[in-house]
Amino acid sequence: MAKATGKKAAVKKAAAPKKAAAKKAAAVSPKKAAAKKAATPKKVAAPKKVAAPKKVAAKKVAASTPADQKSLLQKLFVDGLKDIYGAEKQLTKALPRLMKAATSDQLKQTFEEHRAVTEQQVGRAEQVFQLLGIKATAKKCEAMDGLTREADNIVAETQKGTMSRDAGLILAAQKIEHYEIASYGGLAQLASTLGLEEAKNLLGQTLQEEKDTDERLTQVAVSSINIESEKEQSPVPVMEEENKDENKQEENQNGQEENKEN
Ligand SMILES: [Fe+2]
Ligand SMILES: [Fe+2]
Repeated sequence: MAKATGKKAAVKKAAAPKKAAAKKAAAVSPKKAAAKKAATPKKVAAPKKVAAPKKVAAKKVAASTPADQKSLLQKLFVDGLKDIYGAEKQLTKALPRLMKAATSDQLKQTFEEHRAVTEQQVGRAEQVFQLLGIKATAKKCEAMDGLTREADNIVAETQKGTMSRDAGLILAAQKIEHYEIASYGGLAQLASTLGLEEAKNLLGQTLQEEKDTDERLTQVAVSSINIESEKEQSPVPVMEEENKDENKQEENQNGQEENKEN
């Protein structure tokens, strides 16, 4: 048995180098290795994985073509125009309320003048719609809605006939003007990019009017209203007045009682 085992072992040992040699030969075979290396990139490059980015790239190229870019910008421009057209219409309704609530004639006049200017601006926006060949459509402007409500809150929270109310109204009106300045500035720029020179000029005219109104409001504020407003004192609440009288009566009574005891 031991001899037989020794023979088998010898046979295995003899066979082993052959297998190892075969493996080495296969591993070393430069032709096969080169063939494998050459085949691998071909498989990766050809199929779907490489095709996917091609589709994305194609879309990007399409989006950046001048025709598509213009239509997207034009949509953005028209949306913005509808928004500011709605904002101006909302403002024409709010300005008479602010004018009525104002204390000084100077501020009343400023609001009245700007109401008339705002009506002209509505007409100018309609001209821009006309240039684009689109029906003038007003979109509710959420920002203007909030800004005019804030102005109404100033009226509710301040005392009638005070300069403090006017100072608050100027603050609210300037927020409105700055919103309009931002809107018209942006729209005029979009019109320029779209090559709509006439629309750009019309929007630029309104932009200048908004800037002038903002400046006018600052002048009205600093010339007198803010100065007068600073002198105004917060009225003493009625309850406090009553309490003061009651305290005085108590003091007098106590004093009289003390005198009696003496
Ligand atoms: Fe305006
Ligand atoms: Fe305005």
